[in-house]
Amino acid sequence: MSLIQLNLQGIRNLAPVDMAPSPQVNLIHGANGSGKTSLLEGIHILGMGRSFRTRQLKHAIQADAPHMTLYGRLSGDPEVALGLRRLRAERELELRLRGQKGVRLAELVDAMPLQLINPDAFRLLEGSPAGRREFMDWGVFHVKHEFLDAWKRARRAVKHRNALLRRGRITDAEMSVWEQELSESGERMDRLRHTWFSAFLPVFEETLARLIGVDSLGLRYARGWDVKRSLAEVLKAGRESDQQMGFTQQGPQRADLRIRVGKQPAIEVLSRGQQKLVVSALKLAQGRLLESSVGRRCIYLIDDLPAELDAKHRALFCELLEQMQCQMFITSVDPDVLSRIWQAPTRLKMFHVKQDDQGIGRLSVDG
Ligand SMILES: Nc1ncnc2c1ncn2[C@@H]1O[C@H](COP(=O)(O)OP(=O)(O)O)[C@@H](O)[C@H]1O
Ligand SMILES: [Mg+2]
Repeated sequence: MSLIQLNLQGIRNLAPVDMAPSPQVNLIHGANGSGKTSLLEGIHILGMGRSFRTRQLKHAIQADAPHMTLYGRLSGDPEVALGLRRLRAERELELRLRGQKGVRLAELVDAMPLQLINPDAFRLLEGSPAGRREFMDWGVFHVKHEFLDAWKRARRAVKHRNALLRRGRITDAEMSVWEQELSESGERMDRLRHTWFSAFLPVFEETLARLIGVDSLGLRYARGWDVKRSLAEVLKAGRESDQQMGFTQQGPQRADLRIRVGKQPAIEVLSRGQQKLVVSALKLAQGRLLESSVGRRCIYLIDDLPAELDAKHRALFCELLEQMQCQMFITSVDPDVLSRIWQAPTRLKMFHVKQDDQGIGRLSVDG
C-alpha cells in the first residue's frame, strides 16, 4: 500500500501540492524553511488527524487561508481515497474515506498506517513513557482493532475514577463502578499488548542486530501494575494512596516499554548515537511486524535523516527500509547524501521545495 496521489492545500507555507509519489523512495530536498517538514506534516495530518508539530491543528493551516484540505489516493485493489478538511473556525475535522462522509478518525488511521521518524522520535528512549506507550499502541491497534475499544473504555474509566478521588468523600459503590470498568478494559489491553510484544521482541532484536551491536540490551513490556495481582485488587487496595496523590497510580495508563542495558536504563548507558539506532530499530521493527503479521506495509515519514544518523548507519537504515519495500518520504537539505544510497531497480523520485519571495514553498519534480 502506498500513496499514488497526494494533494495538499492550505498547509503552512506550501503552495497547493499535487504530487504523484514513487511507491518506494521519495526524496524531498530544499533549503531550510522551504517547506519540507510541512509536506510530511500534511501527510501525517491526513493519516492521523493530528500534527506532530503542534497540538492545535489550526496552527498548521496556512496564514490567512480559511481551511486546509488534504487528499490522498492509496494503491490497492480497489484503490482507497481519503480526505480531510479542517476549517480554521471549526474544530471538527471533515473526514472522507472511499467516497463516504462522516467516517471516524480510526478508520482513516487504519487505512493509512504511518510511521514518523523525526528528531522528536529519536528521543523516544529519554522521553516520558507516554511516547513509548503511543508507539506500542500503534502496533497493537494495527494488528488488533479491538484494542481501540478497550483503550477508550479504560481512558474514560481512569478519568471518572480520578475525578472521584479528587472529590473527597466517595462511596464504595461509586468507586466500584469505575474500578470494574477499568479492570476489565485494562486486563484486556494488557493481554493484547502482551501478545503484540511477544511478536515484536524477536523482530526488534533481529533489526537491531543489523544496525548495531549492543551487548545485553533488553526490551521489556511493563503493564503498569503489579504483575502478581489483578488490576481489580490493585485498584481497590490502592484507593487511599491514590486519593492522597489525586490520581490513579497504577493501570494500563502507566504501561511502558523498558529498555535496559544489563541492569541499567538504556539512556544512562548508551551514547546519543546508539540511542538513535535503538529507536531506528524500534521504528523499523514496527513496520516489519505489521507486514509479517497482517500483510500490510506502512508508509515512513522521515524528517532530515542526514542530520540524525552518520553515513554508515544511514546506509544500513536505508537498506533495511528498502528491503521492506515500504513507501517512504525522506527530507534532506542536501539531496546528494541520500540519492546515492539507492540504485535501480529501487524507484527513486526526487522533489524540490523552493521558497519564492513571498515565502511560499513550491514543490517540483527533479529531473
Ligand atoms: N501557518 C503558517 N502559514 C504560513 N507559513 C507558515 C505557517 N507556519 C509556518 N510557516 C512557515 O513555513 C515555512 C516552512 O517550514 P518547514 O516546513 O519547517 O521548512 P523546512 O522543513 O523545509 O525547513 C517556514 O518558513 C515557516 O515560517
Ligand atoms: Mg524541516
